[in-house]
Amino acid sequence: MLDLALAIAHHLLVFALFGILFAELISVRPGMDREAVARIAAIDICYGVLAGLIIVVGFSRAIFAAKGWTYYSHNAFFWAKLGTFAAVGVLSVPPTLDYIRWRRANIAPSAVQVRVVRRYLWVEVALFALLPAFAAAMARGYGEMG
Ligand code: HEM
Repeated sequence: MLDLALAIAHHLLVFALFGILFAELISVRPGMDREAVARIAAIDICYGVLAGLIIVVGFSRAIFAAKGWTYYSHNAFFWAKLGTFAAVGVLSVPPTLDYIRWRRANIAPSAVQVRVVRRYLWVEVALFALLPAFAAAMARGYGEMG
């Protein structure tokens, strides 16, 4: 039952995080005004909260749910997934700092600033797409390290 509850929570959180990432990609565009900056800064806080919850629920699954920590800690796809998730997290820092800066200065970003942030967001989306693939592989025992 715990396994099922954690699995459901994990999926919902992951979909929500991807939705927010995509919402940022759609909202950060040339010509965005100060209201859009305020909106995106608020959305970005949800991004951080969801990422934190995914870590908590993800590790709870890895440690307390059906297969146990030994299964995952010896799986290359598990570590690839964690590393990729961490990389997405690191890549989300510069956009977050930009949103905060724009909101504090009460300005609309220039076309160049928007282009830079969008580049970060696209790389995040691309890396994010690897996560379900790694997850599916690890869940099925691929990548066992003995
Ligand atoms: C946004 C990031 C993440 C995405 C997109 C993601 C995606 C997924 C998906 C799609 C599954 C289901 C795999 C399947 O049953 O075929 C899964 C399972 C799982 N995930 Fe994540 N995950 C993420 C983050 C994490 C993190 C940070 C952890 C931390 C340890 C984690 C731990 C797990 C565990 C333990 C399972 C269970 C696999 C099994 O059934 O054996 N996930 N994940």
